Amino acid sequence: MKYLIIYAHPKTASFNHAIMETISEELKRSNKDFEVRDLYKIHFNPVLSEEDLAAIQDGAVPQDIKTEQDHVRSADTLIFIFPIWWSSMPAMLKGYIDRVFSLKFAYDITADGVIGLLKGKKAFIVSTTGASKEDYDKRGAFKMMNQSMDMAIFQLSGMEVVGHKYFSSVPNVSDQDRKQMLEELRLSVRDKVL
Ligand SMILES: Cc1cc2nc3c(=O)[nH]c(=O)nc-3n(C[C@H](O)[C@H](O)[C@H](O)COP(=O)(O)O)c2cc1C
Repeated sequence: MKYLIIYAHPKTASFNHAIMETISEELKRSNKDFEVRDLYKIHFNPVLSEEDLAAIQDGAVPQDIKTEQDHVRSADTLIFIFPIWWSSMPAMLKGYIDRVFSLKFAYDITADGVIGLLKGKKAFIVSTTGASKEDYDKRGAFKMMNQSMDMAIFQLSGMEVVGHKYFSSVPNVSDQDRKQMLEELRLSVRDKVL
């Protein structure tokens, strides 16, 4: 079993970074084979260009996309970690999806419609919000985000979403609360991922 963490936060002193370290610790503790793709650190180019589209169409996938596709291909479980920005994923991660989850790699279009090509892989997603859980519940925002990300991207690509864990009010809670969140995360990882 191989695990791939796709991490999208620009700041090392962030709660998302602590999430990435906590999950890495859990994987290490269980002797799992895993890799972390820190999209800002590797300066991933998130802009799908005209040249990229032409190359993908011709089956000549650009090398930086191919490198990421090889990481995805070799993983059984993908773990996405990112903050909620404007009720969605950061543009860096969206651009990664645009470029790496390309036609004939993550999905194909057939006479029967779109089919996912990443079948057999699992996805576990961890996101943080600034807003409170109550605020998001009231606005139906979790449902909207689960539909636009979990269903419309990850499930559509054929993956089984084993969980999407949200941590709310992250900038406004105490350090003790954030520690508690990381303990809760460890339990979720053991339950749903390991
Ligand atoms: C560009 C930007 C957009 C944001 N949009 C939202 C949002 O739509 N909803 C929300 O609850 N928080 C939003 N936030 C707050 C972040 O989600 C929050 O600060 C982050 O999840 C905290 O985790 P961190 O310490 O790892 O950054 C936004 C923050 C930034 C910088």
